[in-house]
Order: sequence, then structure tokens, then C-alpha cells
Amino acid sequence: MQKIIILDFGSQTTQLIGRRVRELDTFCEILPYNKFPENDPDVIGVILSGSPFSVYDPEAFKIDLAAIRGRYPILGICYGAQFMSHTLGGRVEPAPSREYGRQHLTTIDLDNPLFQGFEKGSQVWMSHGDTITALPKGFKTIAATESVANAAYQAEGEQLWGVQFHPEVFHSTQGSLLLKNFVVNICGSEQGWSAASFVDTTVAELKQQLGNDRVILGLSGGVDSSVAAVLLNKAIGNRLTCIFVDHGMLRKNEFQQVMEDYRCLGLNVIGVDASEKFFSDLAGVTEPEKKRKIIGRDFVEVFNAEAKKITDAKWLAQGTIYPDRIESLNITGKVIKSHHNVGGLPEEMHLQLCEPLKWLFKDEVRRVGRQLGMPEHLITRHPFPGPGLAVRILGDITPERVRILQDADDIYIRAMREYVCEDGEILYNKVWQAGAILLATVRSVGVMGDERTYEHPVALRAVTSTDAMTADWAHLPYDFMARVSTDIINHVRGVNRVCYDISSKPPATIEWE
Ligand code: XMP
Repeated sequence: MQKIIILDFGSQTTQLIGRRVRELDTFCEILPYNKFPENDPDVIGVILSGSPFSVYDPEAFKIDLAAIRGRYPILGICYGAQFMSHTLGGRVEPAPSREYGRQHLTTIDLDNPLFQGFEKGSQVWMSHGDTITALPKGFKTIAATESVANAAYQAEGEQLWGVQFHPEVFHSTQGSLLLKNFVVNICGSEQGWSAASFVDTTVAELKQQLGNDRVILGLSGGVDSSVAAVLLNKAIGNRLTCIFVDHGMLRKNEFQQVMEDYRCLGLNVIGVDASEKFFSDLAGVTEPEKKRKIIGRDFVEVFNAEAKKITDAKWLAQGTIYPDRIESLNITGKVIKSHHNVGGLPEEMHLQLCEPLKWLFKDEVRRVGRQLGMPEHLITRHPFPGPGLAVRILGDITPERVRILQDADDIYIRAMREYVCEDGEILYNKVWQAGAILLATVRSVGVMGDERTYEHPVALRAVTSTDAMTADWAHLPYDFMARVSTDIINHVRGVNRVCYDISSKPPATIEWE
């Protein structure tokens, strides 16, 4: 299948470039800058991403341009553009002030294939500290803004372009058109990558790969594992056994509801209620990383015990998606939070790994789910952390605290599913993720009737995001917040105050622990 290679120089927006290319029904792979595939006949073009480095930083990531120049059409974005210009004899210098934010292309070469269909004055998003002050010999400027003379260039007579702005971000209003011009018109993508084609090819491949083998899959209730299960079920039917572990820290009634959904989808599911074990192992534990480690360990133990009962299983399937696998450049080398995933099956089971969604971004998983006819409430479900409400209770975890948080969270999420915004869309579908957090280490004074109360606050969190790597706090309507706050305080015993978290990621993370 035709593909675009995106070489990652460490920019925050590299994944976004990938998603934009996929939106053009074109397959792409994001690879570390120094891992360009040798002799892959499917490659039709190359995009060089941005980077946190300046071309002059001693640690800046560099590639041998000669290895790809002239072989494929190339588009350099931001650092990618500066790197090519710098390497090929141009001049890159620190900009007098950081060029950041919205700007307009005051001059554009509308005859250039990269700018087909553009409008003069088109808004673009800049974010760089250096700027190209002189182009290499034989390069021409094809767009400029008031302050950036070489906003875009092309090497004359070559399929090589550079743009100092970010076409992949939403604020570059014709950015998708620019990428379409590159991917479809210049690289010649036939746009054959769609949900329908993915389902057909993947089901055929799974049939071939799995034959009559039995497969085990860990379900979490989330979109990814559910879509993986339905896809596998379509390929091998009841030879797929799904295991869904209840660690006791799911949302209110979630275990029962999700089990019911899975049965309606015709899946062969074993539900395991292991909440007592998790509660007992977590008793008295307050340290977030310790909580995560215990839950991860217990999960593997419970899952393994069930999986071992399926003695003829040959495969372990997982709902791993592409962003989980993109090799990170690990610029800081620090672990912020350890995420828990199904894994660590005993070696003696000799299971092979099957990951049918490993090439998909989250929005593509949702499209595939729709293609498979899955119910909308399963597909639009917000992400939920593996350790569940355990990382949304500050302090130690008790069944009573989980009950309090489940009740508050249920009021919040239910209200969000019911609230219709001014534009007619449901509020729940406008946010990436929402949930309540119980601040069990904090107590504050309140008054109810004539009684003084001294209870815990609940914090509400809602964020907008495209990939959970960065997130903004959602601007929820005041009337919605007022209703939710009143409902929680009136109906959830143990809570006397509601706050709203207005932190973005970074510097905060989405989950509190
Ligand atoms: P943070 O809190 O790191 O979360 O900003 C980013 C996204 O990951 C989810 N998350 C998890 N998902 N296991 C998971 O499967 C985990 O341990 C875990 N911790 C956080 C979080 O809900 C958000 O969507």
C-alpha cells in the first residue's frame, strides 16, 4: 500500500501531521528521524517534522539528506524546512523575536503546486525561534508573511519544499489543503486508505493469520479493545474469548452495562469480579505510582488465572493503537506516569501477539467501529484510565470512597450526556474526556440545613484534546456547572464542595495521579 513517511525530529505536532495525512485517506508511518526505511517500494513521499531544537544546537537531530533527495517528493515543516535550507547552503538565524502564533501569507505563489487553491492572506500558525534569512542557491521563495520573508520555499526544478509554518495545526486555516496538494497532487496518493478498506483487508488477514486457532483478548470497556474484539469476532467468531476484569474501580454500574453491550454484540466474554482482591491489596496505599503498580500487578495475575483456563489458546489479542507504538524520541528520558496495559502473560503459555488496530489513530478506530455497526455510545466513549477511579481518589482507597466518587462522577457524566449545546451538539461529544476526582486528603467546612459539615471536595475535570499528549481545560457552560454542582452536593453524601479544574496539559496532566 502506498505510504508517506513522516520523519520525526521530536516536535509536539508530529502525530498531528500523521493524522492529517490519514484524513486524506492515505497511509503514513511516523518514524524516528534516523530510521528511514531502506528500499520500501510503497513510499511515495517524505515529510520532515518540526523539532524542539535549533539547527545550531549541538544535540540537534540531523539526517543525510542526500539519501532521500531526488528519490521522493520532500516537504520540510518548520525545523524540517530550516534543516534542509541550512544543510544545503542557506542561512538560518535566530529571529529578532520568537515567531509565534497566527500570521497571514501576504505573498503567495498561487501557481506553485503546493499552494493550489490557496487564498491570498491565508492564515498560518508559526512557532519557531530561528528563521531562514537566506535560501540556498537555486531555491525560490513561494510565500512570505509580514515578518517572515521565507515562509515557504521550493528548490527550483526539484520536488522539494519547505514551510516555516505548521500546516498540520487547526489555526493554519488552509493547512489541510496544503497537505492535500503535497500528498495527493505531488506525491500521487490514490487515497485508498479508508475504514471500509481497512475492515475488509484486516478481516481477510486475520482469517489467514489465525486459521482455526483460539484467541484471548483483554477487554477494558474502552473503544480500542471493544473495536478490536468486534473485528476479531467478525474474522473468527467464537474462537475469540474475551476477558473483562472488574477491579472494583470502574464507573458506577459500568461492569454490568458493558457486559450487556458485549453480549448484544455477540462477543464471547468472561466477566471476572476481582474487586475484593484489589481493595485488599490497595488498603492504606496513598502513593500514586504505588497504586498504579499494585493495580497493574493484580490485573496481570487475575487475567492470567482466567487465560490459563483456556488451554488451547494460541494468541493474545490487544487493542494497541498506533500512538501507543510510535517510537518516542524520548528527549527528556523521564517517565511521568507508568501506564498499565494487559501484558506479562506467563511464558509457558507461548501465546503470540495479535494487534489488529496497531496502525490506527484513535479517530480511525472510531470510524472502523462505525463501519462495523457498533452502537454509538460505545464508539464515542471517553478514554478511561486502566487503574480507573483509583487514580482519581487522592489518598487511600476504600470501597466507601469509591462509592462516593462513583455517585458524583455518575451525576456529572450523565448530565454531560444530556446537555445539548447552543450549536445542537451534545456536550459529552465535545470534550475529549471528563471525570470527577475525590480529594479525600482534603476536608473543608460547609453548612447543610442548620448543620455544620466537614467533608471532602470533589473536583471536576473536562478537557479538549486530539491525542491526550496535550490538552486544554474545556470551557463548560456555567448553567451546566451550576446544575451539576448543586446535584452533587445535594445527592452525594460525603461531599460538600465542588471545584472545576482549569489546568491545561502541560504543565498539568489529565489524570490527577
Ligand atoms: P495523563 O494523565 O498522563 O493521561 O495526562 C493521558 C491519557 O492517558 C489516560 N491514562 C491511562 N490510560 N492506563 C491507561 O490505559 C493508565 O494507567 C492511564 N493513566 C492515564 C488518561 O485517562 C488520558 O486519557
